[in-house]
Amino acid sequence: MTEPLRLGIAGLGTVGVGVVRIVRTHAALLAARTGRPITISAVSARDRGRDRGVNLSQYAWEDDPVALARRDDVDVFVELMGGSDGPALAATRAALETGKDVVTANKAMLAINGQSLAEQAEAAGRVIRFEAAVAGGIPVIKSLTESLAGNEITRVMGVMNGTCNYILTRMEATGQGYDVLFDECARLGYLEADPNLDVGGIDAGHKLTLLSSIAFGTRPDFDGMEIEGIQRITLEDIRQAADMGYRIKLLGVAQKTGRGLEQRMQPCLVPAESPLGQLEGGTNMVVIEGDAVEQIVLRGPGAGQGPTASAVLGDICDIARGTRLPTFGQPAATLEAAPSARSSLPAPYYLRMSLVDKPGVLAKIAQILGNAGISIDRMRQYSHSESAAPVLIVTHKTTREALDEALSAMEGIDVIMTRPVALRIESV
Ligand code: HSE
Repeated sequence: MTEPLRLGIAGLGTVGVGVVRIVRTHAALLAARTGRPITISAVSARDRGRDRGVNLSQYAWEDDPVALARRDDVDVFVELMGGSDGPALAATRAALETGKDVVTANKAMLAINGQSLAEQAEAAGRVIRFEAAVAGGIPVIKSLTESLAGNEITRVMGVMNGTCNYILTRMEATGQGYDVLFDECARLGYLEADPNLDVGGIDAGHKLTLLSSIAFGTRPDFDGMEIEGIQRITLEDIRQAADMGYRIKLLGVAQKTGRGLEQRMQPCLVPAESPLGQLEGGTNMVVIEGDAVEQIVLRGPGAGQGPTASAVLGDICDIARGTRLPTFGQPAATLEAAPSARSSLPAPYYLRMSLVDKPGVLAKIAQILGNAGISIDRMRQYSHSESAAPVLIVTHKTTREALDEALSAMEGIDVIMTRPVALRIESV
């Protein structure tokens, strides 16, 4: 009988329990596909007494994930605790030190500590796999690292936070405001323990950091990412964008430019009829463009027990089969430290502002834009009953630099009632 691949699972929340379930229910299938049994030696979580709906009595229990990671009867340390440092990082390092491969769903830990972990793993001859860390059940890491290895990747983009997409699409469908839908997400258990990770764009930013490292052969650089959340998006923005043929998405975009690596996670307008524009609810979508493949679109569940555990099992099966790849697709020492290029590529922008309704006001705005070298493509003033006139402007392509110059010039005039909202229009 071939030696089993023995797992130690740290973290028994939704995903950890999902992994235990699949290892049990699909034991024969997994052994047939990988050529060896996959077993669980030990588990660890914060609260041993909690009923998780699965019988864990046949596995050894460790209160301390570091002790679990160091056990001699563990071949693969499965890290499903979360957190960029603390116990997750300590246990992952301990696992690598003691000769274990690592499978993790922890995007924050890898986005922030990925380079040093990849170096540690490679020095120890171990692998770190993290399919479940990005876009849940969608096999995007494998697609980029393996299936698309023959391409120069030109752009990676996507909607990678289901909670934000749920809020934005439900705002449009129901006419309810951001706050109401945020509360609904809290009730439904969609929010991370720190909701700002979701609505502030940080969770999705961590995911994009990992994709851009693989896509462009660069060191994971979360600090170099421009991040903006969805908290300022109003029903008005959503309705007016729809009126002009767009949908608002929390969209991540990574691409190489002449000035370095541009990485953005921010609300953007995309054409309503595009695949990204059509994406509803908590589903994720990743679009990858390469010189040979042109464009591929991957769509699927970005969270949840089954989809995330499915991705974890995919990695475990690869290890069982003997597949060994560098963490970010090429040896860690060869990853480039690319300078961060903040929104350097020009794009059209959507501007919404509320103006005092009196003669000459629009001319002032047009002049400020003109002074910054920004040309107006389309403009609308909506009907209104009070003294403030809602105005929407779509610009021709311009740089973020020019736009920021215009926005700060607008701060100095007394005809703007509220700070203008500026959203990039992404061609997809
Ligand atoms: N909170 C994430 C989301 C799922 O809403 O997509 C875990 O990454």
